[in-house]
Amino acid sequence: MTDSRTLALLADTPGDGPAVAARAPGRVNLIGEHTDYNGLPVLPIAIDRDVLVVARRRSDDAVELSNADPAFTPRRYSLRGEIPPFPPGDWGNYHKAAAAGLRAHLGVEHSLPGGSFRVHGAIPVAAGLSSSSALTVACGVAHLALADVDRPRLELAELFAHAERYVGTLGGGMDQAATLLSEAGHALHIDFFPLRTRPVPLPPRAGFVVAHSLQPAEKSGRVRGLYNQRVVECRLACALLTRRTGVPASRLADFPDRTALLADLAHLLPEEEVRAEALPDLLGVTSQELHTRFVGGETLAAPGQFALRRRVRHVLGEAERVAAAEQALRHDDLAALGELMNDSHRSCAEDYEVSTPALDQLAALARAHGALGARLTGAGFGGAIVALVERDRSAALIAALDRHFYATRGGRSDLRLAVEAGGGAVVERLGDAT
Ligand code: GLA
Repeated sequence: MTDSRTLALLADTPGDGPAVAARAPGRVNLIGEHTDYNGLPVLPIAIDRDVLVVARRRSDDAVELSNADPAFTPRRYSLRGEIPPFPPGDWGNYHKAAAAGLRAHLGVEHSLPGGSFRVHGAIPVAAGLSSSSALTVACGVAHLALADVDRPRLELAELFAHAERYVGTLGGGMDQAATLLSEAGHALHIDFFPLRTRPVPLPPRAGFVVAHSLQPAEKSGRVRGLYNQRVVECRLACALLTRRTGVPASRLADFPDRTALLADLAHLLPEEEVRAEALPDLLGVTSQELHTRFVGGETLAAPGQFALRRRVRHVLGEAERVAAAEQALRHDDLAALGELMNDSHRSCAEDYEVSTPALDQLAALARAHGALGARLTGAGFGGAIVALVERDRSAALIAALDRHFYATRGGRSDLRLAVEAGGGAVVERLGDAT
């Protein structure tokens, strides 16, 4: 059934031919932070907030992009030839990411038509809720529908994960898989390389509250260099571990006995940060190789020094917590899940260094006011926390956060919400009627 939001968007979409509507939800990661690009599992839920895109085919090869929110000004570009990005941070780059990725993937067999796309986003932006991947995926699946092409969801999740790197962040595949493959009422256990998912039923009494730290975390803006730094640190640590253990591994997931590796880390990696100049010797590569193999021209926040042992300690510990969290959910053991979430936050803050004072404060406040556990969610460096709470205590928790956090910071009430685990992206053909 076409709802009033879709009809309103349709009325503002240029052209008069048949239209398509695509909606893609945001996600909240319950646990498993910064594990995906290391090939280790994550456990997010898709949320009941989405990005909706209505699109109509055009007869030329132009893309016209507009947004119901006037803060995002209209964009236009051509699908002919190369698709160079708009300036960094521009919202139109997410459409370009999807289109460039689709075009490369579909090859000459199918051409991607021009289209007019109108967007309505209902996911708080730069909040760690993956509004950007939802935008990429909603634009991408709408574009695919305009091209009359259908592809399996797993294939699309991999395609868009790869495609979104167009914006300059070396993201893993969690967000695109969560938005495409989630099932209502379930968390999604996601494995990588190759991508595999299994739904994990959520106990009905489990409630989740998301609360924004009021510090934006834009993946293609300020956070980009910080995030990429973590990815490169993991690549370097993996190469050093390979050299020191003799186990060939291209990512941390490739080590067969990760429990033993975790126990042995103190002998294998230095606790203090390693200076960039020391790396070629440590890894047995030239400085040229170091750059091409590990940094690859990406923007890094601190290209002169790299933390290795602490990063790996977080990633391997977090992977164990994901496995335990899945069991806790399956056994309706919310207390155990809460503890794991608290441990995850501590590890993200101390070893992975992706928390902020505001995120720490929000997580502590949530725990003090009824949450069974609370942790930062998403990349960190700002954005939001997720708190686990008995469902009937969500409202009381939100009221406490309002009193102790938001009231002293301008009283924003749109940036904390109880979320429900919703289903994955949906595409609908709207026909000629407006
Ligand atoms: C961002 C990335 C994801 C994942 C998280 C951290 O959201 O897009 O792929 O790496 O950060 O867990």
